[in-house]
Amino acid sequence: MPGNDVILVVDNVHATYNHAITALHGVSFELRRGEILALLGANGAGKSTTLKAVSNLLPAERGQINAGTILFDGGDVTRRRPGDLVRAGLVQVLEGRHCFKSLTVEENLVSGGVGRSGRRGEISQDLERIYDFFPRLREKRRTLSGLTSGGEQQMTAIGRALMSRPRLLVLDEPSMGLAPLVVQDIFLALKKLNQETGLSILVAEQNSAVALKYADYSTVLENGVSVLSGGATSLRQREDVRAFYLGQKAPPATPPSHLHAVV
Ligand SMILES: Nc1ncnc2c1ncn2[C@@H]1O[C@H](COP(=O)(O)OP(=O)(O)OP(=O)(O)O)[C@@H](O)[C@H]1O
Ligand SMILES: [Mg+2]
Repeated sequence: MPGNDVILVVDNVHATYNHAITALHGVSFELRRGEILALLGANGAGKSTTLKAVSNLLPAERGQINAGTILFDGGDVTRRRPGDLVRAGLVQVLEGRHCFKSLTVEENLVSGGVGRSGRRGEISQDLERIYDFFPRLREKRRTLSGLTSGGEQQMTAIGRALMSRPRLLVLDEPSMGLAPLVVQDIFLALKKLNQETGLSILVAEQNSAVALKYADYSTVLENGVSVLSGGATSLRQREDVRAFYLGQKAPPATPPSHLHAVV
C-alpha cells in the first residue's frame, strides 16, 4: 500500500479505445503530495489517455481500463463519477484550453466553482486569489474570453479549475501553441501555486525542457508504456534521455541501456 504522502498512484495501467485500439499497456507512477510530476512523451505516447484515465473520463470516449489500478487518496477512481472526483479535489484542465468564448474572463472563472458553496464572499475571495496568481486575468476580467490571447485563455482555463479548490490539479499540455515567454509565465504561476498552497500537480507535456525545469519528478511514456521515471533534475541533465525520448536532438543509434531503469 502506498504511504499517506502519496496522493495519486497509477499502477500498471492498460487501456484501450473501442475495445480494439490499445493506447496504454503498462503505465505506472506515483505522485507525492505537494509535488509536481511531469508526464512526458512524444505524440501519441499516451499522455492524454493516462490523464483521462486518472479522472475516469475514458468511458465517455469509448475507452476503458483493462488492467491496473489508479488510486486517488487511496480510493479507486474507476468507482467514482468524474464529477465526484472533482468534488473530492481531483480537477483536470483538458487539452486545448477550453473556455466559453462568449463569456467574460470573470464569468468563465465563476462558472468553474464545481462542488463548493456558491457564497458570494467566498467566490470573490477565490477570484482575488486567482488574479494574484495570474495578474493578466485581472486586467482582462471584463473582456470576452474569445477576444483574449491563447495564453490568457490557458490561464482562464487553469483559473476555472482552481475555482473548484483542487488538491490535485491535472493539466494536459498547457504549453501547446503558446509563445515561450507565455509558457514560462504559466509554469511560473503553477510553481508558485504549488509552493504557496501545497497543491499537487500532474502535468502532461511534450515540451520537456520547460516541464523538467519546474517539476520535481518525471515519468516518460513511450508507446503507451512508462519507460523511465526519476527526479526532474537528474532527467534534465541526461543527454541520452533528452535525445532518445524527448526528441531534442538526433537520437543515438541504440536506446539508452537503462531503458526500463528507474533513476
Ligand atoms: N478517442 C480515441 N479513440 C481512439 N483512439 C484514440 C483516442 N484517443 C487517443 N487514441 C489513440 O491512443 C494513443 C495514445 O493517444 P494519446 O492522445 O493518449 O497520446 P498523447 O501522448 O496525448 O499524444 P499528443 O502529444 O499528440 O497529445 C494514440 O495511438 C491515439 O491515436
Ligand atoms: Mg495529448
